[in-house]
Amino acid sequence: MAGQIPQRFIDDLLDRTDVVEVVGERVQLKKAGRNYSGLCPFHQEKTPSFTVSADKQFYHCFGCSANGNALRFLMEYDKLSFPEAVEQLAGRLGLDVPREGGDDPRARQREQKRKEAVSLLELAASFYRERMKMQEGEAARRYLDGRDLSKEVIATYGIGYAPDGWEALKQHLSAKGVSEEVQVEYGLLVHREETNRTYDRFRDRVMFPIRDLRGRTIAFGGRIMGDGQPKYLNSPETPVFHKGRELYGLYEARQAVSKLEQLIMVEGYMDVVALAQYGIHNAVATLGTATTEDHLHRLFRLVNRVVFCFDGDRAGRQAASRALETALPQMIDGREARFLFLPEGEDPDSLVRREGEQAFQDRVTCAMPLSEFLFEQAAQGRDLNTVEGRERFASQVLQALERVPEGMLKSLLLEALAKRSGLSREELQGLLARRAPAPVVAPESAMPLPEQAPVQAARTTRPKALGRVLSSVERIVQLLLHEPRLVESLPEGFDWLPDDSAHGPLCRELVALLRAGRYKSPQVVLAHFQGSEEGEVLAELARRELLIPGATRQAELTGLVEHLVGKQRKRSPEEEYNALLALERSGQKLDKAQRQRLATLVVELTRMR
Ligand code: UTP
Ligand code: MN
Repeated sequence: MAGQIPQRFIDDLLDRTDVVEVVGERVQLKKAGRNYSGLCPFHQEKTPSFTVSADKQFYHCFGCSANGNALRFLMEYDKLSFPEAVEQLAGRLGLDVPREGGDDPRARQREQKRKEAVSLLELAASFYRERMKMQEGEAARRYLDGRDLSKEVIATYGIGYAPDGWEALKQHLSAKGVSEEVQVEYGLLVHREETNRTYDRFRDRVMFPIRDLRGRTIAFGGRIMGDGQPKYLNSPETPVFHKGRELYGLYEARQAVSKLEQLIMVEGYMDVVALAQYGIHNAVATLGTATTEDHLHRLFRLVNRVVFCFDGDRAGRQAASRALETALPQMIDGREARFLFLPEGEDPDSLVRREGEQAFQDRVTCAMPLSEFLFEQAAQGRDLNTVEGRERFASQVLQALERVPEGMLKSLLLEALAKRSGLSREELQGLLARRAPAPVVAPESAMPLPEQAPVQAARTTRPKALGRVLSSVERIVQLLLHEPRLVESLPEGFDWLPDDSAHGPLCRELVALLRAGRYKSPQVVLAHFQGSEEGEVLAELARRELLIPGATRQAELTGLVEHLVGKQRKRSPEEEYNALLALERSGQKLDKAQRQRLATLVVELTRMR
């Protein structure tokens, strides 16, 4: 960096920036009185201890003590250096960061070079645009016309034409005083070692400028107009262009949509521009690479919902499952990922032209939620009617779950897994515990350095990754608390309630109260226990959402009770297992309770061995 940033500028910048806004773009915040609160992005937690004060322009986490102002937040959350964070805040306000003397000449040179590069790439972009309008651009114009691209969208995306011939751009830029060396460095010229000659990288291609978030051209993609390889030629990695980070169309999307809420990830340049032409301005594309963590990090900083769009064929499914893997660790509360599979042989470009905007939007709206895709993946090729199949199914989902940050999605997935595999949450917890402990994957939002030590300590003292998964009895308490009338569906007496359950006494008391008919709403129940230890447990359970629709709560309660009863049966697990297995093998269809029991036994037995 050239020179110091004047303190006055920094003060002014902070005055004009709202920390709530900066944090709010990255962390889901809820208003809580004069402050805002949310889940701390710097350590894993399920209940919010992170607060942001609009008055003090300060954030603070009561869990891990992370704290600071907007600049500090950006440095730690986005992993920026101080000057980068200043640049970032200044960029939001459209300000240039001033520098003052006493500088390091090398740094100044670097800065100078970056500026040069950007203007060099801008020069190239306008050269390509100009050439498309000229005589030699006719074939390109015809090509784009043949692909039904409107003038407006061509202009918005700055699409141009790289003329045929080996030195068109080189001569143009050299005449403007840009050295060949620099042209090579930024990927516009290719240098051939053997002959020591240089020539234009892009020749006779339709040119798509790739822009950064501030709209500056940083690279190009060029499409061949006929057949031939490669179909798209992209700029190489350069000091300003990193394929694994950039997304085509992101700048244009932000320009077009004042409040972006979701982004659609597609595969190609043409998909982005065709969707835009049809009024769908929020599509972005990776640049011929798989989706990386950096990409997602970028997207989730801007929006809470990302819809991945893939071909419906095998390759598309594979790409989707890689995207799923990449997305899992980033699924903190408030974020949502969905998967849209297109009919075979179609891409968004062809589909939106055939079906129109609304039909495409409908597909986006109905895209498959991450959870569903995850289950579908895990169920693939497995027979869930067999115990082995279900075990493998559960194992695969659990493996994925280990990478999901603590939060709603994780508990939702566990619940759903319990239901689909016939294993209770306790058993799943058992399975999880038996798995080798996965290294704690820090969310890419990474731990700020100074906070490293305390945060890690907080993690290791937190008992188990899934310590917050409720036991069956707790879950029963929770269900009853949220919906007291469910008490009517419990069997009479308390035989179903295990004596050794930690929450047994609370459950018993609650059931007795509800049976007595005095308490019909969660608030009254909570009031009854107010101030006691049980009261706290209940309050915590009340705060957690049930995450399943009303109609299935009754069924879940019945299932839980059956499960508890089953656990107390007298027969040895081995005997019971063998009997059930024999039944299954004899070809008889097991009923739901039996299947569930069988699955339970598998876990119990493997644990005993
Ligand atoms: P596709 O081959 O699916 O092409 O590549 P497309 O997007 O449908 O393009 P059209 O409709 O034939 O013009 C998808 C994306 O993969 C990258 C590009 O980013 C392309 O948009 N790609 C493809 C390359 O980088 N190089 C290639 O040679 C081909
Ligand atoms: Mn296409």
